[in-house]
Amino acid sequence: MEYVLAITGGSGIAYGINILKNLPSKKVLIISNGAMEVAKYELSNKFNMKDLEREADEFYNEDDIGAPQSSGSHKFDAYIIAPASMNTIAKIANGISDNLVTRIATVALKERRKFIVLFREMPLSTIALRNLLTLSENGVTVMPASPGFYHNPERIDDLYEFVTSRVLDSIGIENHLIRRWGENVKY
Ligand SMILES: Cc1cc2nc3c(=O)[nH]c(=O)nc-3n(C[C@H](O)[C@H](O)[C@H](O)COP(=O)(O)O)c2cc1C
Repeated sequence: MEYVLAITGGSGIAYGINILKNLPSKKVLIISNGAMEVAKYELSNKFNMKDLEREADEFYNEDDIGAPQSSGSHKFDAYIIAPASMNTIAKIANGISDNLVTRIATVALKERRKFIVLFREMPLSTIALRNLLTLSENGVTVMPASPGFYHNPERIDDLYEFVTSRVLDSIGIENHLIRRWGENVKY
């Protein structure tokens, strides 16, 4: 199995990191130039981009347009963009493939692969809502980075793991990151 994760320049890089850590191999990571900029502000000195690259089995930046995953003939099982910036979402919704992140999105759409877009932005402009609707109409699972609170989170990691769990569920990856509703629930 091969899972491709792109981290783009939306706020919430920690969501992408948590998903990467919990994906089974083979993990392919792409980081956009926008994400590199956001990372300067969001990653504390206990976790940097080099550590992140080491978590992956393969690593590319957005300019590596010749990476295997940019061709439909290369098989991968799911493509996840987390966090997805509104910029990247707008490009994908309009068929633009100007870097490796958007090219793999085009491949995922034309080959009808599992494709998850996780965004953090709020509020959403009407344009952004239309772009997200276009993705959804084309089979993409559109997910807001919006953790639930019914599992009684105590640590910030509980919030990331809630979102990661929902992402993994939507691509069929078995996981036990959260206590599910109905499992040992205290009323
Ligand atoms: C600190 C910081 C936070 C940002 N947060 C967001 C965000 O939450 N959502 C978003 O769409 N763009 C956000 N941006 C803007 C994007 O990074 C910018 O549009 C960039 O061009 C996106 O490039 P990419 O889509 O190629 O990664 C942020 C930028 C910075 C510097």
